[in-house]
Amino acid sequence: MATPKPQTLAAFEAAKGFMPVGEGLALYAAATDAAGLGLPLLEVGTYCGRSTILLADAAREAGVPALTVDHHRGSEEQQPGWEYHDPTVVDPEVGLMDTLPAFRRTLHRAGLEEHVIALVGRSPQVAAAWGGPLGFVFIDGGHTDEHATGDYEGWVPHLAVGGTLVIHDVFPDPADGGQAPYRIYLRALASGAFEEVSVTDSLRVLRRTGDGI
Ligand SMILES: C[S@@+](CC[C@H](N)C(=O)[O-])C[C@H]1O[C@@H](n2cnc3c(N)ncnc32)[C@H](O)[C@@H]1O
Repeated sequence: MATPKPQTLAAFEAAKGFMPVGEGLALYAAATDAAGLGLPLLEVGTYCGRSTILLADAAREAGVPALTVDHHRGSEEQQPGWEYHDPTVVDPEVGLMDTLPAFRRTLHRAGLEEHVIALVGRSPQVAAAWGGPLGFVFIDGGHTDEHATGDYEGWVPHLAVGGTLVIHDVFPDPADGGQAPYRIYLRALASGAFEEVSVTDSLRVLRRTGDGI
């Protein structure tokens, strides 16, 4: 299994965000395998760039770009008063979350800025404007059904056959977490167009084997 360079792993561990190390290592290995297709890697849900560091390192090794999509205003559970709110990422001038500056600092510190293209906008709108094939789609955006379904329906059609779909926060037991990512994971399997490659805690890695979403 491919592992990130020590300096990449150190930058990942130092970065603000929501990706545990074990899942991050599985994400890196999946991205490295998929990068061999020679197509861009895409992430939905940049936040402050923690997982982006791993995709950027895998992309750099293969000579492909890593794309990362976020409106940078935070998900529902990251808003003031909610469980995952971080007041240090609020823009005091506009009074809204803005994780873009922290993301840029994260990538700069990791020395990976030139390997990442940041797409700032709402995932379904960016997906509708995107024209090319992708070798890897990592879904870690909004965790409501509306957002998870929008990510799935927006980006999976761009994923090449042979490409990899990774979904984070898949919890079969509702006691462990929200069900929207689990529902798109089930949808992918039920489509007949994906086979499961690996399971690491809440991270699911699937390979696209055919058409249909
Ligand atoms: C769970 S965080 C991503 C965590 C990140 N991957 C990490 O490793 O720390 C989810 C992110 O998705 C973004 N997001 C939620 N819904 C979105 C949407 N519809 N379009 C774009 N970004 C969205 C939020 O702004 C938030 O930054």
